[in-house]
Amino acid sequence: MKKPNSIKPADGKLAVLLPGLGAVATTAIAGTMLARRGLAPPVGSLTQMGTIRLGPRKTARSPKISEVIPLATMNDVVFGGWDIFPENGYEAALDADVLERRHLDAVKEELEGVRPMKAVFDPAYVKRLNGTHVKNGKTKADLVEQVRQDIREFKKQNDATRAVAVWCGSTEVYLEPTAVHESIKSFEKGLFDNDPQIASSQIYAWACMLEDVPFANGAPNLTVDFPAAWELARERHVPIAGKDFKTGQTLMKTVLAPGLKARMLGVKGWFSTNILGNRDGEVLDDPGSFKSKEVSKLGSLETIFQPHLYPELYGDIFHKVRIEYYPPRGDAKEGWDNIDIFGWLGYPMQIKIDFLCRDSILAAPIVLDLALFMDFAQRAGLRGTQEWLSFYFKSPMAAPGLTPEHDLFIQQKKLKNTIRYLVGEELITHLGAEYYD
Ligand SMILES: NC(=O)c1ccc[n+]([C@@H]2O[C@H](COP(=O)([O-])OP(=O)(O)OC[C@H]3O[C@@H](n4cnc5c(N)ncnc54)[C@H](O)[C@@H]3O)[C@@H](O)[C@H]2O)c1
Repeated sequence: MKKPNSIKPADGKLAVLLPGLGAVATTAIAGTMLARRGLAPPVGSLTQMGTIRLGPRKTARSPKISEVIPLATMNDVVFGGWDIFPENGYEAALDADVLERRHLDAVKEELEGVRPMKAVFDPAYVKRLNGTHVKNGKTKADLVEQVRQDIREFKKQNDATRAVAVWCGSTEVYLEPTAVHESIKSFEKGLFDNDPQIASSQIYAWACMLEDVPFANGAPNLTVDFPAAWELARERHVPIAGKDFKTGQTLMKTVLAPGLKARMLGVKGWFSTNILGNRDGEVLDDPGSFKSKEVSKLGSLETIFQPHLYPELYGDIFHKVRIEYYPPRGDAKEGWDNIDIFGWLGYPMQIKIDFLCRDSILAAPIVLDLALFMDFAQRAGLRGTQEWLSFYFKSPMAAPGLTPEHDLFIQQKKLKNTIRYLVGEELITHLGAEYYD
C-alpha cells in the first residue's frame, strides 16, 4: 500500500449503489435517512461514532475517525440499487419487516424515491428465488454494458460525483474459481461466450470496476474474489473488498476465540446453529447457497486457533455450523453456540452462547461504513483488495498466498493503523516502553 501524497476531498454527492434491495439494504438505507435527520442514532457505525487515538497515551488525543480522514457524510449519500422485484425502498422495507412503521413512515417519501433498477439475475445461481424485474441480454457481456449504463445514468440523474457499490443481494450457489476467472482476457471471453461459471454478482462487479466504482461484497459469493477481478481492480485503481458481512455468530466467534487462545485454553468442539426466518434464511435453505455460507462461516476458527502451532490444544476441533430456516422468527435470528473447551491438566468445561440478534440491524451499519470507507480508499489512491477492511467480513479477502486475518482485535488494529498511516500519524504498537524509561 502506497502512502498517498494527498487525499482527494469528498466533494459532491456520493451514489451508494446496492445490488439487492432486501432486508439488509433497506435497513441500511432507512437507518441512514433517519440518522441524518437526527431521528435515530447510527449505533454500530464506526464512521459515525468511532474515535481513533493519535499520538502518545499521555496526550490523549482521540478525535472521531470522521475528523481525521475526509469521509463523505451521511448527507452526501444518495442511494440506488437493483433488485429482481420492482418494489420501491419503502415497500421493500415493509416486506422485509425489520424496522417498525414509526421509523419507516418518518422517511416514507425518501424511501419511496429509491426505485430498484432491473436486475441481472439467473435462478441457476439463486435457486429459491424468481423475479420479473430482470434485464435481458444476449450475452453476459451485454449485461455488463447495461449495468454500466445504469451506473452512468444514476450518477447523472442524481448529480453524483462518485459512486460505490456494496453487494446486498442473495447468497449465490457455491462456485470455485475456474479457468474463466484466471485473467481479464479469459473473463472477458467468458462474458461473450455466456460461460456458466460467471454468476450474476460477478457481472455487477465487473461493470462497477469498469466504471471505476469500488465494490464491497456482503455475501459469501466469489463476486470479486478471483484473479481476473484482482487484476482488473489493480489495473483500474479501484478498491475491492469482501466477503460476507461479519455480523452475528461469526462476530461472537472472532471475539471469543482469540480470548481462549490468548490464555492457551484448549477447544475440542464448537457447534453452531442458527434459526432464522427471513428471505435470506429461505435462500440459504437451498444446499448450494448454504454451502457458500458454510465455507465462509467455517474458515474463521481454523485461522484464529492455528492448529499447526498448537496441535495439543486445537489440533482436533470438531467444528460444525448449521442454519435452519424457521419462518416464525423472521429477521430476528437466534444463534446458538456450544463450545467444549478444556483447561489445566485437560479438565473439560463448556461455554454456551445464545445470541438473540437481529440480522439486518447488525448488518446495516456495516453497509454504511463500507460505502464510506471504500469511497475514501479510492480518493486516497488505494486499489485492489482492501485488507484493512477485513474487520467487516466473515471471510476476508487477502493478497494471494496470505492467510486472512480473522481475529477481530487484530483487524481493528489494522484498520486504525491504516488510517494513521494514510494521514501520516505515528502507528500505535501498544509497546509503551517510553512511559517507563
Ligand atoms: N444480515 C446479516 O447479518 C448478513 C450477514 C452476512 C451476510 N449477509 C448477506 O447479505 C445478503 C442480503 O441479506 P438480506 O437479509 O438482505 O437478504 P434478502 O433476501 O432480504 O435480500 C436480498 C435481496 O437480493 C435480491 N437479489 C437476489 N439476487 C439478485 C440479483 N442478482 N440482483 C439484484 N438483486 C438480487 C433479492 O430479490 C432480495 O431482495 C445475503 O446474501 C446475506 O447472506 C447478511
